[in-house]
Amino acid sequence: MKRRLPDLRELAPLLQFDLPRLDRVAARLESAADIWDLRRIAKRVTPTAPFDYVDGAALDERTLTKNREALGNVELRPRILHGVDAPDTSTTIAGARTRLPFGIAPTGYTRMMHSEGEAAGVRAAAKAGIPFSLSTMGTTSVEDVAQAAPDSTRWFQLYLWKDRQRSLDLIQRAAASGYETLLVTVDTPITGQRLRDHRNGLTIPPRLTLGTILDASYRPGWWFNFLTTEPPKYASLSNTSQSLAEMTKTMFDPTLDLDDLRWIREQWNGRLFVKGILTAEDARRAQSVGADGLVVSNHGGRQLDRAPDSLTSLAEVRAEVGPEMELIFDSGIMSGTDVVTALCAGADFVLIGRAYLYGLMAGGQRGVERAIELIEQEILTAMGLMGARSITDLGPELVRGLPQAPAADRELRTDAV
Ligand SMILES: Cc1cc2nc3c(=O)[nH]c(=O)nc-3n(C[C@H](O)[C@H](O)[C@H](O)COP(=O)(O)O)c2cc1C
Repeated sequence: MKRRLPDLRELAPLLQFDLPRLDRVAARLESAADIWDLRRIAKRVTPTAPFDYVDGAALDERTLTKNREALGNVELRPRILHGVDAPDTSTTIAGARTRLPFGIAPTGYTRMMHSEGEAAGVRAAAKAGIPFSLSTMGTTSVEDVAQAAPDSTRWFQLYLWKDRQRSLDLIQRAAASGYETLLVTVDTPITGQRLRDHRNGLTIPPRLTLGTILDASYRPGWWFNFLTTEPPKYASLSNTSQSLAEMTKTMFDPTLDLDDLRWIREQWNGRLFVKGILTAEDARRAQSVGADGLVVSNHGGRQLDRAPDSLTSLAEVRAEVGPEMELIFDSGIMSGTDVVTALCAGADFVLIGRAYLYGLMAGGQRGVERAIELIEQEILTAMGLMGARSITDLGPELVRGLPQAPAADRELRTDAV
């Protein structure tokens, strides 16, 4: 091998030193290559208790793990020479056109993760042309979320109470503020046991203990935001006279039954989706009271640990309801490839919970925008490599290894409710 002295003129074009960025949030968001990177940033800048509240799940967190494994185990089939220039990612769900086949899931107590909270979520969703769901346990009121992004597509998530007047007040406010679709969450008669929250001593609102103050020294940005903005509260419920602790206790009602769902169906004129369906039997019951669609979800593994993973349930539920009923999928989505997988498996649309919250914790509204952008890019790449021109091209023929609906459930399809 012949050696020579390095020639500086040849090296000059290769040397590219970037000036340090003054906007550190922008720099760290840009450095994130996927949602897992956003999660790592989120963990660094958010106190342990709120981070774990998002990141954790029920008991041994097996359902959380199974959700992601089930999606990852499906093979996507490449198709070559299909001449796809720019895949069309738009679709229609709940009567609304959306630029991307996913939206933001309802999450409670969001301003604890980052003080920008729901306003950041709804603004980022509006910019991306996707729906935003506000939780009953949101920390920004129904009206303020609408005002933060008047042009957004907004859905409202309802936890039902025995006190019917309370549910009615909330959905009337939601209707008056332009929320088009109601998601009625039915998988939370009681809350699942989240061991991380217990171990971290998580309280809502967070308490200032010696531990949390020490934690603050590592995350000054989060604490500065927390201490210099309105404390988080259940913003849509603040007109009740109950204390926060009492409210949390009465939030969930183990005695709810199908009649309560039937009643809410009669009160709401817009589209109604029942959220938290995992089995053919429950799909049938929700259908029987006039649900327009279902959200196949195990609440991100946060409720019944060892419940079936959401993808296996999707197969069971789709086999039950047939091709017409709109099915939204959630639980476990961490990438655009996951979104494409769920769509191929029979979902019409997907919701992201943690993936959005990791972005929020990492950088407020800009973090949510980055999360959406990363997932969009991954969808475009997968569709391009799978030769899919539009969302309707994504079907079971483009995947291999999908979970199958249990045979017994297929036989039971014609049973009465
Ligand atoms: C921190 C957190 C809070 C949540 N709060 C609610 C809620 O108030 N109402 C609800 O219906 N679902 C709630 N969920 C469940 C989400 O709507 C969604 O079903 C779940 O996050 C999907 O799983 P993924 O996080 O893996 O995407 C919450 C989820 C998380 C992570």
